[in-house]
Formats: sequence, structure tokens, C-alpha cells
Amino acid sequence: MNSKLATSVVRHLGPRLYSTTAIRTVANQPPHGLLIGTAGIFQPSGSPVPANAVAAWIRYPVRSGSTLAAGDAREDDKTVTGTADALTAEKAIVSYWGVPPAKVAKEDGTEWKWKSFRPWEAYAPDLSIDLKKHHVPITFMDKIAYWTVKLLRFPTDVFFQRRYGCRAMMLETVAAVPGMVGGLLLHCKSLRRFEHSGGWIKALLEEAENERMHLMTFMEVAKPRWYERALVFTVQGVFFNAYFLGYLVSPKLAHRVVGYLEEEAIHSYTEFLKELDKGNIENVPAPAIAIDYWRMPPNSTLRDVVMVVRADEAHHRDVNHYASDIHVQGHELKESPAPLGYH
Ligand SMILES: [Fe+2]
Ligand SMILES: [Fe+2]
Repeated sequence: MNSKLATSVVRHLGPRLYSTTAIRTVANQPPHGLLIGTAGIFQPSGSPVPANAVAAWIRYPVRSGSTLAAGDAREDDKTVTGTADALTAEKAIVSYWGVPPAKVAKEDGTEWKWKSFRPWEAYAPDLSIDLKKHHVPITFMDKIAYWTVKLLRFPTDVFFQRRYGCRAMMLETVAAVPGMVGGLLLHCKSLRRFEHSGGWIKALLEEAENERMHLMTFMEVAKPRWYERALVFTVQGVFFNAYFLGYLVSPKLAHRVVGYLEEEAIHSYTEFLKELDKGNIENVPAPAIAIDYWRMPPNSTLRDVVMVVRADEAHHRDVNHYASDIHVQGHELKESPAPLGYH
């Protein structure tokens, strides 16, 4: 970006948003490595930001993403189009090294509003995945895993009944734990043993992040009550520690349990879809975060969101049963390349 253009961008957006240091920084930055762009931003996972992306290193008070559905006014619009009072109320974070966060644009040139994930991390799930695939419990360990999950389902069914939106939101708070715990333990193992992980650390952390994005999506359509928050607090304390110890003792059992949990998740989302189709749950517009994360059309609905989330769960099912199978066959995960980017 040349200095003239940079200065005009800064003028256009208003001097209140920037320090003079930031303006100088904009004018002096070379185009490479800049992130706000007009084309070619969507990249496959892990690929670098394109060098031709046009961007600006500007001090810019970016806030967290909207909690509103597509088409609604965005919460973070206030930082750009709000009144002078609103703007002064926003306090920019000043870094001592003078490198503010880069701005990123979508393919259509509009601003990318999510800080927790970038356009090149978004994806379109494979909806053709076999949802009925089931790992038949054969060994004693399989049966323990299978019946543990079946037993866990009973109180869940009693508690939530047919409130599938709430159920999805609550269960995603649990579903995002195993990948993080498994990834953490494999990470520590890699450090202790001076050895590679075969990509499994990253694969499991990807799964955890994907599950957390399910939660970030469902909390837009279902708000937890105080006692549900308390339940999440308690369940997380118990489940995190139980899974941590379980993974230390038997990773093959831990992955098998998650494989069956994912099978149950597919079933729950199928029931969710049935309720939507019957009209018992309102098919509201898809939350904006879902549209960007799964690269969905702007007019997508909650039903479309449930479809892509269910496809994600089917992928998690495959990854975890596969991980368990590797252990069952007497190998370590690092011996088989992890299914990175498997959506
Ligand atoms: Fe999930
Ligand atoms: Fe899952």
C-alpha cells in the first residue's frame, strides 16, 4: 500500500481511531504481510496469507465478533460507524511495540469480524459423510466404552427432554474437552520423549476448537440459565479430570469413548432436525458466526447449521475410532499420520 492510499484510508476512517504512530506505521509498511485485502484471502488450512493481499497496519479498536444473526446490525459496527461518543468510549489497546492487530477482509471485500478464527480456517464440511457408520463393540474395552456412553445418555435425556437447542449447547461444553486433553497429553509426551506426534497433537486440538465453535454457534440461539451454567461448571470439573486420568491410563479406551459419544451426538442432531422439520423448534436464521465459519450462504437457517454440525460430529467419530484402533493394534498414534484437516 503506498503512503497516499494509506493516509486516505486513515482519513476516511477518522483520526479518533488512530494514534499518529499508527498513521506513520501505515504509510511506511510494505504491502507484503498485510492482511486487509480484496481478493484471494480464503486459503486452505495452514497456507500463508497471500502476498498480494492489500492491508493496513493500523491501530484499530477491534471488538469481538457479533452475537447477532446475519443481516442484523453488528455489535462491532459501533467501532466503525458509531457516534463520536461511542468511539471515545471504546478504548484502543496500545501495544508497546507498536504493532496493532492486522485487519482482514472477506472475499467480497467486507471486513472480517471474527478474531478467534480467520477466513482461511473456515471450511465447508463434507455433508455426504456416512452418518450411520457404527463401530460394533467387540472387545471388552469396546463394550465398557459403549455402555459408559449409553449410561451417560440416560440422565441427559431426562434432563433435556426435547429441548435440543439447549441440549446441543450444553453438550458442546463437554465435547470440546477430550480433544484439548488428548492434545495436551500428547504435547507433553512429545516434549518428554523428544519425538514427533505424527500430527495428532494438532488433529486433536483442531477437534477441540471445532467443538468450541459449535458452542459459540449454539449459544447464539439458546441462552443458558443460571442453573445450567452451574451444571456446566460442575460437569467440566468432573469430566476434565476423569478424561485426563482415563487418557493417561488407557488412550484406546478414551478415544473409543469419544467415538461413541460422537455417535450419540449424531443421533441427537438428527432428532434436532426432526423437531425443526415438525415446526416444534423455530427455524431461525443462521447465526452470523456460523455463516462465516462453515462458508454457508447468507440466507442459511438453523437447520443448515445443524446439518453441518452433525457432519462435523461424524468426522470426529471417525477420527476417534481410528485413534482407538491404532492403539488396539499395538501401535502408537505417531506411527500413523493424523487426519489433519479432515472435515
Ligand atoms: Fe460438537
Ligand atoms: Fe464432536
